[in-house]
Amino acid sequence: MLYSEKVMDHFQNPRNVGKMEDADGVGEVGNAKCGDIMRMYIKVDDDQTITDVKFNTFGCGSAIATSSMATEMIKGKKIDEALELSNRAVVEALDGLPPAKIHCSVLAEEAVKAAVKDYYDKNGIAYDHEKFQSVDCAHCHE
Ligand code: FES
Repeated sequence: MLYSEKVMDHFQNPRNVGKMEDADGVGEVGNAKCGDIMRMYIKVDDDQTITDVKFNTFGCGSAIATSSMATEMIKGKKIDEALELSNRAVVEALDGLPPAKIHCSVLAEEAVKAAVKDYYDKNGIAYDHEKFQSVDCAHCHE
């Protein structure tokens, strides 16, 4: 079987899909490789904890599954912990993806980062710009 049960589950029943009207941070990113796009919304409380996450995507099934898993992994976390979330960790949590689909998981990681960056920008919070450099897809294929 090409896809793990977890991938199939998150693809068929994606968690946290939708739009958030009163988001504290919104990130939109595109996948250079396939042209698909992803939008991620986060709600952050005064304690810098992510209390809610939503995502919308015009992406493939693997992008849907990875974003769904990523939203579950960052919900309830501190914002700086969410920043540490790598596409590899999400792929591992899904019990793997076919190599040709790894680039789809990058979309989820980048969308989370873009939403956090938007939150920082809106609130005038200083941050380390190095953390927001675009993910280099080449490392996914090592
Ligand atoms: Fe575009 Fe998967 S093929 S995100």
